[in-house]
Parts: sequence; structure tokens; C-alpha cells
Amino acid sequence: MAWNDIKSAGGLAVITGGASGVGLAAAHHLAKEGFDILLADIAEEQLITAAKGLRDAGATVHTAVTDVSDAGAVTALAQTAFGLGPVAVVMNNAGIGIDSDTIQKPEVWRKTFDVNFFGILNGVQAFVPGLIEANRPSAVINTGSKQGITTPPGNPAYNASKAAVKVLTEQLAHELREMSAPVDTHLFVPGFTYTGMIAAVMPQKPDGAWTSEQCVDYLFGRVAQGDFYILCPDNMVNENTDARRILWGAGDIAENRPALSRWHPVWAEAFSAFEKG
Ligand SMILES: NC(=O)c1ccc[n+]([C@@H]2O[C@H](COP(=O)([O-])OP(=O)(O)OC[C@H]3O[C@@H](n4cnc5c(N)ncnc54)[C@H](O)[C@@H]3O)[C@@H](O)[C@H]2O)c1
Repeated sequence: MAWNDIKSAGGLAVITGGASGVGLAAAHHLAKEGFDILLADIAEEQLITAAKGLRDAGATVHTAVTDVSDAGAVTALAQTAFGLGPVAVVMNNAGIGIDSDTIQKPEVWRKTFDVNFFGILNGVQAFVPGLIEANRPSAVINTGSKQGITTPPGNPAYNASKAAVKVLTEQLAHELREMSAPVDTHLFVPGFTYTGMIAAVMPQKPDGAWTSEQCVDYLFGRVAQGDFYILCPDNMVNENTDARRILWGAGDIAENRPALSRWHPVWAEAFSAFEKG
């Protein structure tokens, strides 16, 4: 399904985690493209402020305070959305990053998976049957992370939750393709982007980070090209570097290297040469 067909058919764009960061920037972008917006977020005050900003910019906006980790709440969100009219875009985007550790804090793993993975699964299961039944051009955009692909040491619960989002989204794309449903699927992977999540730990935007608007412009440029994997660069990492890092990570298995060899001192030089490749 071409993005132009989805835009021509029009309808509602539903965005979770829409009160801040890339979700809010996506709402502004989609409103400018002619979609009505249903903004969902757990943070009520930010949601009100975000909706006001969108309305001031001329958008038609609905809001729903929603905790994406609650399947019943996401089902209610879908009922609200389909009740408002045809749904054209579902962006399952809400996410959190809490410090985690492999050998302790199981509650952090559960919380992270509840929001980052089950939040997206809830969105897929609440909306996609209705999109298939509607049989009109639409798109599902799930927000993953490079940390779910190259899994750098540091926050294993976040990485694992985002790796699960990648698997889910790939399978969803396959199933929708097999049934010839007019529903496109995209895995959206921001680079380092200065959003609420990053501002919580870095009060000033680092030079290396992109803005949410840059990230979202890149996203919809690639959506328009019909791409499934949409990995955004940033001011430190370009597309080629991402590709080399992904290839190196896959090579750990194919070449029988130690786990996460990219961060293994013995492999540091070989990785560095490969990355430049
Ligand atoms: N910023 C980055 O560098 C970066 C990089 C890769 C991936 N991402 C992903 O992008 C997505 C958006 O994050 P962001 O960077 O814009 O951060 P952000 O903190 O600005 O926005 C996230 C939004 O999600 C909302 N949210 C959190 N828990 C929720 C819940 N249970 N239910 C509903 N809403 C909830 C928050 O209130 C917030 O408005 C996340 O999935 C994040 O993991 C961000």
C-alpha cells in the first residue's frame, strides 16, 4: 500500500506516547499531512498541553489518557478510535527506559516489558483486526530501538523489550502480507533523539542528538518510500555505521565469536576496522 493511498483515503492517526518526544512530533507531522489525531498517553497534564499545541497549529485532535500496558485500556482506546471514524495510522510508540541489571531487579524487567513490549502488543491486538476488517489503506508503525538490534551493554531489560518489538513487528508484517491486507507495517527505530526521555537525564541537547522533528521527518520520508526497517541516523551515527554495527552483531553467531564481541577488548581492534569498512 503506498503512503499516498493512505493519505488520500485519510482518517484518524492514533499515536501512543503522543504527549512528548517523537510521538508528539509525529502528531504534528501527520496533522499537517491531513490526518485527524487521537493522542494517547499516560501523562494527563502533558497530554492536555500537547493537544492544545496541536489545536493551535490547526489540527483536529482527540485525546485519551491511556496506560498502554493495560490491555483493557488499549481495547477501549481502539473502540474510541473506530467510533470516531476510519483509522488510517496506528503508531504504537509509548516507551520507557529504566536502569536495569541482568542479575537483579526483576520488577524493572516486568515494568519495562509491560510498557515497551506488551504496550505494543496490546496496540497491535486491539487495532489490527479492525484495520483488516475495514479493508482500507492504513499503516501500523511500531517504535523499536537500535538497542533492540545491536543490544549494547547497559540496559538489558530495555534492549530485550525492544528486541521483542522487532520480532513482533516483523511477524506482523509477514502475516499482513500473506493475507494481502491493505495494512502496511513499519519498524521505526529512532537514533539518538533529544526527547523527554533523554531530557530527564541530560538537561541540554547534546550535539550528537537529533531533534524529534528531524527524526520524524526522516521516518515519514522512508514511510513514503515503502520501507519496513526505518533506522534513523543522528549527528554521530550515519546509515553506513548502523549497517556495519548490525552486520558485526550478526557475525558474532555466524563467526562463533564471544557474546557482544563488539565490546570485548580482544575484538576491539577487529571491530573498529570492520566498522570503518
Ligand atoms: N529518544 C531516543 O533517543 C530514542 C531512541 C530509540 C527509541 N526511542 C523510543 O521512542 C519512543 C518514544 O520515546 P521518546 O524518546 O519520544 O520519549 P518521551 O519520554 O519524550 O515520550 C514517551 C511518551 O510515552 C509516554 N508513556 C510512558 N509510559 C506510558 C504508558 N504506560 N502508557 C502510555 N504512555 C506512556 C510518556 O508519558 C511520554 O509522553 C519510545 O518507545 C522510546 O523507547 C527513543
